[in-house]
Order: sequence, then structure tokens, then C-alpha cells
Amino acid sequence: MLSYRHAFHAGNFADVFKHVLLMQLIEALCRKDKPFFLFDTHAGAGRYDLLATPARQNEEFRDGVGRLWHESGLGAELSAYREQVRALNPDGELRFYPGSPRIARAGLRPGDRLVLTELHPSDHPLLKAEFAGDRQTAVHAADGYAALKAFLPPPERRGLVFIDPPYERKDEFDRLVEAVRLIHRRWAGGMIAIWYPILDRAPSTRWQRALQALQIPAILCAELGLYPYDGPLGLHGCGMIVINPPWRLDETLARLLPELLQRLRTGAQGQTRLEWLTLAP
Ligand SMILES: C[S@@+](CC[C@H](N)C(=O)[O-])C[C@H]1O[C@@H](n2cnc3c(N)ncnc32)[C@H](O)[C@@H]1O
Repeated sequence: MLSYRHAFHAGNFADVFKHVLLMQLIEALCRKDKPFFLFDTHAGAGRYDLLATPARQNEEFRDGVGRLWHESGLGAELSAYREQVRALNPDGELRFYPGSPRIARAGLRPGDRLVLTELHPSDHPLLKAEFAGDRQTAVHAADGYAALKAFLPPPERRGLVFIDPPYERKDEFDRLVEAVRLIHRRWAGGMIAIWYPILDRAPSTRWQRALQALQIPAILCAELGLYPYDGPLGLHGCGMIVINPPWRLDETLARLLPELLQRLRTGAQGQTRLEWLTLAP
């Protein structure tokens, strides 16, 4: 079953959170001269037209990237993120939105490598076309979880696995625990970032306990909640788990999360969370 299409949600508040954080991870990888490997397991279409029918259905981008488009005084991270979106919209009108593969690609240096997997029969060809002729980017119509075994550990020995599944399946959080276990076994030094939705608090809390039990020394959790977690069913917020986070990411996020909340909130409510789930001395 593959019914989720990211085109309906592109550029919403969750994408802003996800893509700004992804940029921080890539920027950190660029601090060392050695090449890195980046694997985006659930890549989507790579680019979205916000004037096309799916995005126009609920216009979610208006409460996301749309809120930042004309803002002044953005902090350095949000400003760099908006520049990336602007690069796809040279005439200054917000129309195209970069998915995680485009955000990732913009951060690569000449020696770095990007692998993208996407299973959806409609989104995979779009992704393939988006990166046609790009020698640093490989696009596969494959199951991102199954492909972990094929690509890890990478010869570069440094890099990131970015996991952003649709959470359509009831067992998605269980699959993620297995994926983390497998990645960490094959590539203990690799960075892993996993985006997750907060609809009802309980599943992600249970999942985080399961991650803590894996005995991985450094797991950071960052969350942005825009709506009360006990409110009517819906996307109340979202989070990112970062395993083996870069040095001082926590300090950057301590500044960035409150700014995201301030810029994206729709009323007085809202909250952020930044917490080490595990941190070895
Ligand atoms: C949330 S969207 C990805 C959005 C994208 N990461 C971004 O930020 O622009 C999740 C994507 O995963 C795809 N997908 C679902 N199951 C998959 C699997 N097992 N392997 C690879 N892709 C999958 C869906 O078709 C969908 O495009």
C-alpha cells in the first residue's frame, strides 16, 4: 500500500522543520575535508509545484514556508533555508518547493555522494528526471529499508542516513527500530536522522524508549509542536531523532527551535523539546 503523496503537504511547517534541520546536519558534514555519503531512504519527488492541484488542495505551504517568504530578520539557519527555496524561484514568487533530495544535493561538494530511494510509481520517475545526468546522485526505485544492507557501510565511512517515511503503516515505528539497529551494527559511526509526526503522543514516546534500549551512546531528540498535543486528531507537531549528532548541534537547535516556533505558530499555543535520549559521558 503506497497511498501517501508528499505533493499534498510540500512546504508545510513539518517540511520547514525537517529541511532546516537536514541542512544543519549537512553543513556539519562539510566542516571536514573528507567526502561524505548521504542516503535519503524515502526521497519523494525531489521538487514540488505549489501551484499544481495536490499542493493547492489544502495549501499547507501557506502555514509553512509561506510564513517565512517575506519575513525580515530571520536567523542565519532560517535565512539559509529560505535562500535554498529562493534558488528554485528566481523570479521571487514562491512556486517550487525543494524536497529533501534537492536540499541534500545543494549541500554536496564535488566529492560527496547522494543515494535516493523512492518506491512510489508516480514519484520515482519524477525523482529520476529531477536528477537525470547528475553523476553524484543515484536514484533507485527500491525499498529504502531493504536498501540499507546494499549501501551500508559506505566506502566514505562518514555521512548520514536520512529517514522520512510516510507513517502509513501501523508498524512503522517498529520498522524504524529495526532499521536503526541494522544501520548501527553495520556503520556505528554513521549519523542517522529520522523525522516523525506527533499526532498522538503515545506511539512516538514508546518508540523513543525502544531506541534508548538499543544502547547507542548519543541520541538527540528535537520537537516542534504547534498545536496542543491533546487537541483533535491531526498533525500537532513533529520531531527529529538524530543519532550520532554533530558536535554542538544541540546548541544550534536550542536557538533554532524557539525561532521556528515563534515564526510558525498560529496562536499562543505551541512548544518545543530538545533532549538527549542517551548521551555517554
Ligand atoms: C514523507 S515522504 C518523503 C518526503 C521527502 N523526504 C522530502 O522531505 O521531500 C515519504 C515518501 O516515502 C515513499 N515510500 C514509502 N514507503 C517507502 C519505502 N519502503 N521505501 C522507499 N520509499 C518509500 C513514499 O512514496 C513517499 O514519497
